[in-house]
Amino acid sequence: VAVVARVIAVANQKGGVGKTTTTVNLGAALAERGRRVLVVDLDPQHTATKLFGVRPASPTLYHVLVDGAPLADVVVPVEGFHLAPADLDLDSAQAQLWTVPGRDLRLRGGLEGVAGRYDVVLVDCPPNLNLFTANALLAADEVLVPVECELPAIAALPDLFGTVEMVQRHVHRTLRVLGVLVNRFNKRTVLHRESLAFLRRQLAGRYRLLDTMIPTGIRVPEAAQARQSVVRYDPAGPLAGAYRALAGEVLAGGAAATAGMTRTAAVARG
Ligand SMILES: Nc1ncnc2c1ncn2[C@@H]1O[C@H](COP(=O)(O)OP(=O)(O)OP(=O)(O)O)[C@@H](O)[C@H]1O
Ligand SMILES: [Mg+2]
Repeated sequence: VAVVARVIAVANQKGGVGKTTTTVNLGAALAERGRRVLVVDLDPQHTATKLFGVRPASPTLYHVLVDGAPLADVVVPVEGFHLAPADLDLDSAQAQLWTVPGRDLRLRGGLEGVAGRYDVVLVDCPPNLNLFTANALLAADEVLVPVECELPAIAALPDLFGTVEMVQRHVHRTLRVLGVLVNRFNKRTVLHRESLAFLRRQLAGRYRLLDTMIPTGIRVPEAAQARQSVVRYDPAGPLAGAYRALAGEVLAGGAAATAGMTRTAAVARG
C-alpha cells in the first residue's frame, strides 16, 4: 500500500481568522522546502482559487465530490505547488450529497486517487462545521486551527474541538490536532498578550499552541492583490519568515505521529 501524503485540514468554523491565508502561505513555504504540496480549496467562497486568479475548468472539485471525478483532472499548478480549485457551484454539492451514503468520505476517496503524488495536502475549510468540513476532517491526519488572539475567537474554539473529538470518537480515531496557530498577532498590544494567556488556559494542555505566531501585515492583502502568496510576494519580509518557521514546525511536529501510517488503516469505514 502506498503511503499517502500527510493531509492537514486547516479548519475553524469562525470566519475570517486566516484559514485561507495560512493554507496558501504554509503551502508556499513547504513547496519552497522542496515538498510536493497540494492545496484543496474546499470552500464554495473559493477565496484561495480567486487569490491565484484561477478560473476552474470543468471538471471541478464539485465533480470530484459528487461524481467521483479524478482529483488529478482538477488540479492546476500555482507558484510552486498544486491547487484543486473551487467555484460557487461547489455549494450545491452539499444538497446533492445529502442522502448519499459515505457523503463525508468523498474527498478522502479523491485523495486516494492521487496517492504518492504529494508529500503534504492542505485542505482549506469553509467557516462552517458542515459537510465540507466533515469531508476535510475524515480525509485528514491532522487539523491545523488558525485563530485570532481575541476573546470571541478563542471562546469559539471549544465548538471546533468538540467536533474533532466527536469525529475521533465515532469514525476517525487517529485524527489529531496539529496545533492552534495565532494569526494577526501584535505582541505590543496589551489585549493580545492578555488574550494569549486566556488561549493557553482554554487549551488547558490538551491542545498544542504552535510556537510560531503570524504577525499582522499589510503585505497579506497586498500579496492577494498581486495574486501571489506572501511568501512569494515579499520573500525577505517578516511574514514570509513566519510562514517558513511555521513550515519548519509543521514538518518537525508531524513526522513521528504519521511515520509508517497508511490512511486506509487509519479510518474505520462505515
Ligand atoms: N496576518 C495577517 N495580516 C493582515 N491581514 C490578514 C492576515 N491574515 C489574514 N488577513 C486578512 O484577513 C482576511 C481574512 O483572512 P482569510 O481569508 O485568510 O480568513 P479565512 O479564515 O479563510 O476566512 P473565511 O472564514 O471567510 O474562509 C483577509 O482579507 C486577509 O487578507
Ligand atoms: Mg477562507
